[in-house]
Amino acid sequence: MSNVKKADGKLGVLVVGLGAVTSTFMTGVLMTRKGLAKPVGSMTQYDKIRVGEGENKKYLKYNEIVPLADLNDIVFGAWDVYPANAYESAINCEVLKEKDINPVKDELEKIVPMKAAFDHNYAKRLTGDNVKKCTSRWDMVEQLREDIRNFKKENGVDRVVVLWAASTEIYVPVDEKVHGTLAALEAAMKADDKEHIAPSMCYAYAALAEGAPFIMGAPNTTVDIPAMWELAEKTKMPIAGKDFKTGQTLVKSGFAPIIGTRCLGLNGWFSTNILGNRDGLVLDEPANFRTKEVSKLSTLESILVPEDQPDLYGHGNDEDTQYYHKVRINYYPPRNDNKEGWDNIDIFGWMGYPMQIKINFLCRDSILAAPLCLDLVLLSDLAARCGRYGIQRFLSFFLKSPMHDYTKDEVPVNHLFQQYVMLKNAIREMGGYPADEAID
Ligand SMILES: NC(=O)c1ccc[n+]([C@@H]2O[C@H](COP(=O)([O-])OP(=O)(O)OC[C@H]3O[C@@H](n4cnc5c(N)ncnc54)[C@H](O)[C@@H]3O)[C@@H](O)[C@H]2O)c1
Repeated sequence: MSNVKKADGKLGVLVVGLGAVTSTFMTGVLMTRKGLAKPVGSMTQYDKIRVGEGENKKYLKYNEIVPLADLNDIVFGAWDVYPANAYESAINCEVLKEKDINPVKDELEKIVPMKAAFDHNYAKRLTGDNVKKCTSRWDMVEQLREDIRNFKKENGVDRVVVLWAASTEIYVPVDEKVHGTLAALEAAMKADDKEHIAPSMCYAYAALAEGAPFIMGAPNTTVDIPAMWELAEKTKMPIAGKDFKTGQTLVKSGFAPIIGTRCLGLNGWFSTNILGNRDGLVLDEPANFRTKEVSKLSTLESILVPEDQPDLYGHGNDEDTQYYHKVRINYYPPRNDNKEGWDNIDIFGWMGYPMQIKINFLCRDSILAAPLCLDLVLLSDLAARCGRYGIQRFLSFFLKSPMHDYTKDEVPVNHLFQQYVMLKNAIREMGGYPADEAID
């Protein structure tokens, strides 16, 4: 059995953004705790992993292998630009029916968002005023650190995980001079460099400095920079990101291996979506969509590699990928959170003869994201107790654009089933069992 520190005491889950994903996540956990809902889609609650081999093999749930925090020990808190509490947010977002929210109304009403660390230039479509007044980015960090300390004190919480489920910020390209080292990042925060320091970086800095793992659920570059890796090493805290792998990208990273494994060719993959929630509204702004586009495009990169198979993947007309890969999101209010995604895949077979595959996924964005929030939070807390810090590659399974050390040309793993092997092996290892490569 595992020698990881036990999950004693309460676990604080502080979420940045109290919108559709967060309110659905929180409501689901509280309803599950009351025995009124099932946490469908959550690996930590359902999946079983084989440990041992041959006659000794057995299939165990995660909490039978490693000590995971119990759902009853979770205490929620949040920050948001808008003042609505978790109950009001769940009602406003219209993801869940009132009958699935009202039994936990009292608990949800008590989750009132703290003032956000926000900069209007990073999400122009948002107009809420539940926002901190900050003299600089460094002041922003200090105020967030105080929020985390107060939350711990007021709730008698031993451990905290901070999860970003707030809107996608505008694209901040990695700038070596500012993001390359921790010293440079801190200097830029102190100099109030608003162009290179996104508010999300202040949340991440504050979390890590207060001894809390940080997870980036949006495609923001926040912790995907060497300076944050350095901070995570220094504070010995896990970081994970980026961008929840929920709908279209989940399908893509599960489906692309079919093409790759059977050595079929690819000329192009066109993905488009319609989405009508606040996430869709924010992403309607080109600068915010750019962040999402970069993340979504990365999915195929390490699965179908033109350099490895020029005959199969080197024939398209895109300079970067050879095969033409395009991703679009269109804001369409009538659909609210019920996103519709279409994929048109132009493949070719024997002697180059073309074929097409069409996928139409009528999904529910927050219903798919909520179990990921739970798993990422519980597994990051586990990793911290296990003494794992820095980039948590085993969490790539849950993420569209998995973090990796690009300064050393590390190639990220995008293939869903390879990611699943990494997840299982990390759990096995943390549980004191040997890792293996068997398929089950
Ligand atoms: N649902 C999915 O399938 C999915 C998948 C991948 C990524 N995501 C990402 O998750 C995030 C949340 O999605 P959602 O549908 O809940 O969006 P949402 O718009 O309903 O909620 C986001 C909330 O974040 C708040 N916010 C924005 N900036 C903030 C800041 N600096 N501090 C505190 N709060 C802030 C907004 O006011 C809003 O209430 C988005 O970035 C989205 O791109 C969602």
